[in-house]
Amino acid sequence: MTGLFDSWQRRINYLRISVTDRCNFNCVYCAGGSDSSALRSVELSYEEIHRIVEIAAGMGITKLRLTGGEPLLRPNLSRLVGMLSQVDGIKAISLTTNGMFLSKYAPELKKAGLNRVNVSLDTLQADKFKRITGSDQLKEVLAGIEATRLAGLNPVKINVVVLRGINDDEIIDFARLTISQGWHVRFIEFMPFGALRNEVGEMVSAEEIQESIQSLGHLEPDVGESGDGPARYYRFTGAAGTIGFISPVTKHFCHNCNRLRLTVDGRLRPCLLDDDEVDLKAALRNDAKTEELQELIRRAVTIKQEQHHLADGISPQKRSMREIGG
Ligand code: 5AD
Repeated sequence: MTGLFDSWQRRINYLRISVTDRCNFNCVYCAGGSDSSALRSVELSYEEIHRIVEIAAGMGITKLRLTGGEPLLRPNLSRLVGMLSQVDGIKAISLTTNGMFLSKYAPELKKAGLNRVNVSLDTLQADKFKRITGSDQLKEVLAGIEATRLAGLNPVKINVVVLRGINDDEIIDFARLTISQGWHVRFIEFMPFGALRNEVGEMVSAEEIQESIQSLGHLEPDVGESGDGPARYYRFTGAAGTIGFISPVTKHFCHNCNRLRLTVDGRLRPCLLDDDEVDLKAALRNDAKTEELQELIRRAVTIKQEQHHLADGISPQKRSMREIGG
């Protein structure tokens, strides 16, 4: 068998890369107390990221996602996209962003070779947007979503983390947009993370979310949309957009996991929800040979756990979401 396989025979072909942990928003469920300004110097350079991707692609990685922090805070992210899209074996590059800078950058990102964009957006109400993100720029984000669509980066997917008492009253409004505007909306169960475990709010299960939108129409499973990612997709009869449910807490999808994460400071993290990591940065900066880096990548794949243990109350403590990129 060629390619990268972990100890449970899962094929690992997807690398998520956090390019910065800085963010212009400060979302209640994400920040986790890291001092963004202090962390800037530890970011990998674009050349270092490119080298890792070249080696990983040679071993079987075919898909990339750029995350943050807010990835578009990295100057000239299109340059990185351009470099990565030239790497042999890389078939798709996507981006997860808060959407704030998409009006400005969507066309050049598309031109550089970006394939798709996910926008994190948890509310459609300006006052609540301010409460959740600390920013009053909902309008810019909505304009960014439209600009991304117009730039041909389709489908734009909207990630909604649902928190009880905060935005669960808007589930139906988001769901309606899949019919009225053809939006692709993905509802995500809130994961307790690090220092934030209990402070933020209560998770709403995917099952409950699904029940709460039944009144809008008949929800049909959407086989076309179901890729190899964690979301289960549906569509209201006749709707242009889809609805996805991502249920890391109530129905984990570890058996299908195909991913590794590269943290902002150059560590390979085999599982979002497990603090074990393998340091690539030290090796990179010590002029490691390709074989050494291959060995480290293989090690990260080998220590990947069979599944996470959120259901047993075990969640990662060492990092905030913002250093890993979700
Ligand atoms: N639980 C669930 N989803 C989260 N995200 C960030 N923090 C959490 C959390 N604690 C989401 C973001 C982003 C995606 C990558 O992860 O909204 O869209």
